[in-house]
Amino acid sequence: MYLKALSLKNFRNIPEASLSFHEKFNVFVGANAQGKTNILESIHLLSIGRSFRLADYKGLISWEKTEAFVRAWLELPIGEEERTIQLTVEKKKTFKNGKGVSPNQFQFMPIVLFAPEEILLLKDSPQARRDYVDGLLIKLSAIYEEHLRDYKRALTQRNKLLKDELIPKEEKKKQMTLWESPMVEHGSVLIKEREAWMNKLNGILNEYYKIIGHDAKSAQFAYSNNVNLEEFSTVQEAKREEELERKASLVGPHRDDFKAQLDTHPINAYGSQGEMRTFTLALKLSEIKLFEEVLNQSPLLLLDDVVSELDEKRSAYFFSYLQSYTAQVFATATALSLFPKDCLKEFRAWEIRQGKPFTF
Ligand SMILES: Nc1ncnc2c1ncn2[C@@H]1O[C@H](COP(=O)(O)OP(=O)(O)O)[C@@H](O)[C@H]1O
Ligand SMILES: [Mg+2]
Repeated sequence: MYLKALSLKNFRNIPEASLSFHEKFNVFVGANAQGKTNILESIHLLSIGRSFRLADYKGLISWEKTEAFVRAWLELPIGEEERTIQLTVEKKKTFKNGKGVSPNQFQFMPIVLFAPEEILLLKDSPQARRDYVDGLLIKLSAIYEEHLRDYKRALTQRNKLLKDELIPKEEKKKQMTLWESPMVEHGSVLIKEREAWMNKLNGILNEYYKIIGHDAKSAQFAYSNNVNLEEFSTVQEAKREEELERKASLVGPHRDDFKAQLDTHPINAYGSQGEMRTFTLALKLSEIKLFEEVLNQSPLLLLDDVVSELDEKRSAYFFSYLQSYTAQVFATATALSLFPKDCLKEFRAWEIRQGKPFTF
């Protein structure tokens, strides 16, 4: 599976572009703020259906314009697919081979993004880590997405009720319980899935960290659950009074966290900058490996400014990894010279200047 070609219109700072890709390695170089990341973002949008930098797609439309297009031609095991995403101020429309479809009718194209901002994941709020894990498990697990959606629906209703000033307390208490059984039902699946997948991920992560780490520390992205499966209902019941006071649901997987640790020490408190970078790289490599194990297929890689971020040992490892990587890679960098020659045997490169791609 690979991306043969991409065409953009009014996408961020790119007025118009048509790119025909190499099967393996594609590089976008250029100075800052020229549109390199924007191109990766458009590829991400085509594969996942959403941007990695923005929740609201309207910001993807070029300023002063009312409509944007992102179109791609993909080579899939079942044949070629043309997919288009049309963005207007009113709505987002998706087309497959010219016919309007919902995005979940696109053939799934696994993709792993590696951007320097992701180091922030380790330091950010638990919400950012939950979003990251949710995004990953939606892709890896066959059942996660539906349970996550149903759980969030029940949670939103329960929170709305808790914030309602007009309903008397006793009535509220009664209604709260209605949302509790779907929360426990779907939340329990989320907890089990998170446990199982994080276990799997951590086994791989620890191996990678040993290979690329500075020393032989054990690395974990440890699942720290807000509530145990067995106690979910009872704790929820016990917290009702407090929840009424604080006007929010306090029990359940929406309050879970995932703690990046080296030898049980939280990395955000004790880790060095280098350790955090290494941890993030190991985490990304693990993500790729999980896809390979589960889907029997290597994901496309989007590498945003990654080369400038790594020190010698890690970049040596990463480049030799990339060289033997079997799926397609899209990388951005400030200069082509940042890539070792061995990496650039078979590739295509563009320089991006003010939103316009120029072939080398
Ligand atoms: N909706 C938009 N319309 C026009 N320009 C935009 C839009 N969104 C972002 N930009 C511009 O895109 C540029 C950043 O592009 P980016 O791909 O992040 O650059 P880089 O080459 O550094 O990766 C900035 O100059 C920004 O102002
Ligand atoms: Mg960039």
